[in-house]
Amino acid sequence: MASDLFKFKFNKPKTGDIAVSIPTQEREGNLVLSDHTFSKLRDVIYKLCGIYYTDSKKYLLEGRIIKRITALNLNTYEEYISFIQAISGRSELNQLFEAITINETYFFRAQQQFEAFENIVVPEILNSRPSNYRSVFRIWSAASSSGEEAYTLAILVLERLRHKYPNVQFQILASDINNAVLENARKGVYKEYSVRSVPPEYMDKYFTKNGTTYLLKDEVKRMVKFMNINLYDPIAMSTVTGCDVVFCCNVLIYFDLPSKQQVVSHLYKSLNNNGYLFIGYSESLHGVSKAFKLVHLPKSMVYKKE
Ligand SMILES: C[S@@+](CC[C@H](N)C(=O)[O-])C[C@H]1O[C@@H](n2cnc3c(N)ncnc32)[C@H](O)[C@@H]1O
Repeated sequence: MASDLFKFKFNKPKTGDIAVSIPTQEREGNLVLSDHTFSKLRDVIYKLCGIYYTDSKKYLLEGRIIKRITALNLNTYEEYISFIQAISGRSELNQLFEAITINETYFFRAQQQFEAFENIVVPEILNSRPSNYRSVFRIWSAASSSGEEAYTLAILVLERLRHKYPNVQFQILASDINNAVLENARKGVYKEYSVRSVPPEYMDKYFTKNGTTYLLKDEVKRMVKFMNINLYDPIAMSTVTGCDVVFCCNVLIYFDLPSKQQVVSHLYKSLNNNGYLFIGYSESLHGVSKAFKLVHLPKSMVYKKE
């Protein structure tokens, strides 16, 4: 997959030549993304991470990539494509993923899913295990962005689940393709926007206000391990196994049908039997996978591996 992207020979960009002396704004204004080059760029991005830019999103992609072209002192979109396909351009892939991903998230975003998780899904899974059996309960927040979803789950564990199930060790893995958001997640420093739906009693308990930012307490940060995992990379995906619950919310919308199918089949393999998959409210596995059973819970829907 990704490896065949690196066999192209790349003509090193000529830094220091005329491109450097042209003011950034002027250079950006001169850059044109033709339909042909857009289609090439879209294919390259698709092969790397499964994100598919439809024709109507051309201008969105153009605006995001133009900044990388000027940052690298390149002159054209074609040069940028050659650059990311060359071995010497591998380090650019992180920047590319940072440029093209949408990282919108906040604490307690999917309130009804979190209620279903805590009150129905976790009890069902744990009640099927022997009561005095010391066990591990694995949760994966795949496509975690800056960690709000994973940390919300950690707060639920700290608040109630660990007291209700003292023999159970809750482990939370959170992953994303974008290193910048993962770095923010590890720091645990948030703006008002991210914490706006946090219940007031949890604000005082789990955050420290520092000017206009909110610092998440170490007790919560310690509960979550963050990793860079590309959902579209079969090798990376095969490393995550034994999950009881996977949250893969608000990311499938960026994929086309074949990449959704690939990602969902890997998520299926990462789950234990009787494990559950949560996806975003606006997402569905209809036409994507028949492997899961759709379960209608009082206020939300969830997919079960049977
Ligand atoms: C809109 S955020 C969703 C965050 C969180 N799950 C939520 O629902 O609030 C989508 C995240 O998916 C990540 N993403 C996009 N493509 C990905 C891929 N191929 N592998 C892993 N993460 C990806 C983006 O970097 C972004 O942080």
